Amino acid sequence: MKVVSIVGARPQFVKAGIVSRELRNRGVREIFVHTGQHYDFEMSEVFFRELNLPEPDYYLGVGSGTHGEQTGRMLIEIEKVLLKENPDVVLVYGDTNSTLAGALAAAKLHIDVAHVEAGLRSYNMEMPEEINRVLTDHISKFLFAPTETAVKNLKREGIEKGVYLVGDVMYDVALEVLSKVDERGILSKWNLHPDGYILVTIHRAENTDSENHLREIAGALRELSLNHNHKIFFPVHPRTRKKLEEYNLLEVLDVPNLILSRPVTYFEMVVLEKNAAAIITDSGGVQKEGFFFGTRCVIPRNETEWVELVETGWNILSGVKSEDIVKSTLQIISGDPPEIGKRFYGEGDASKKIAELLTSN
Ligand code: UD1
Ligand code: UDP
Repeated sequence: MKVVSIVGARPQFVKAGIVSRELRNRGVREIFVHTGQHYDFEMSEVFFRELNLPEPDYYLGVGSGTHGEQTGRMLIEIEKVLLKENPDVVLVYGDTNSTLAGALAAAKLHIDVAHVEAGLRSYNMEMPEEINRVLTDHISKFLFAPTETAVKNLKREGIEKGVYLVGDVMYDVALEVLSKVDERGILSKWNLHPDGYILVTIHRAENTDSENHLREIAGALRELSLNHNHKIFFPVHPRTRKKLEEYNLLEVLDVPNLILSRPVTYFEMVVLEKNAAAIITDSGGVQKEGFFFGTRCVIPRNETEWVELVETGWNILSGVKSEDIVKSTLQIISGDPPEIGKRFYGEGDASKKIAELLTSN
């Protein structure tokens, strides 16, 4: 069996390594394609090194651009690869422009598409990711859903055939990595202590491309640091760094106890998430990883795809007003977490199940 796997952005590097290993262990011939959507060392190569991802067979070098430019360039280049390689299946991950381009190029060539993380919905079609998810799901033959909610979402859209509830591959990776990281070494690099800081990541377009939203978020971090004396660690996505500069917001964040860093490695991130007193994030992946490691998140958005964690009270959807972000963060830090008996994201064997399903169908 021949599979072309398509990755391009940070969360896809995190997800793809473990699935790739399972496929190769079962004798699958995998061709690994990196679109080049993310290209900075710390947004791309560092994940290949830490997570032992295969060296890409094709690096398409697409880079940044408007949605049309970026997705269009990917389509052109991926189609060339698919025509040359003629795989049985194209495997795509998540909801980025690389996901949609991979799925669309394959579907037009009548090659089966397999979608890892199928069925996620925010029901906000202004999010580029929502468009990517809906379209990808509707042209996929194998839909690997991470949660029961995802299966229900697909059913609501009339998609039942080819849907497999496998769990979340991010849980598989998180469990594996946690067992081998040097927690103390990583925390001491920034002089951080368990439960002694708030971890922050922000990169969603709706927050970075709105000066008002980003100002509210920056204001909340300033308030938590200055008036509530919390240490804050904020590894900044390149998109966010650009916008903080453009809107002159770096000065708002220039307060004691607030560390702005370049993006950190996955191993570092796992440790930072596990030991934080709370996380403020608009990332999909980070919301779940917090839960895997027992840390609660404040989500400065109005909706989330990972609804289970909000419905149970583990995470809080705060919206983007400064005072609401501050209030929710203080609530998490001072309150007791809710008891959650359910394993929403599977048993840590999603990647095995995906490889088995692909090779047996
Ligand atoms: C993309 C995904 C988003 C995902 C995120 C993960 C889409 C539409 N969005 O958003 O779903 O959550 O990746 O991080 O696919 N940049 C750099 N260096 C890099 C990469 C990006 O400087 O290596 C800067 C560029 O200025 C670029 C901007 O970040 O224009 C945005 O990058 P892009 O890949 O278009 O979208 P993300 O915001 O990263
Ligand atoms: N991540 C990382 N370093 C960082 C920020 C995030 O390794 O500085 C990891 C994080 O642990 C998660 C993944 O990147 O596994 C999530 O990617 P991101 O937040 O960029 O995208 P999303 O999940 O929102 O699509």
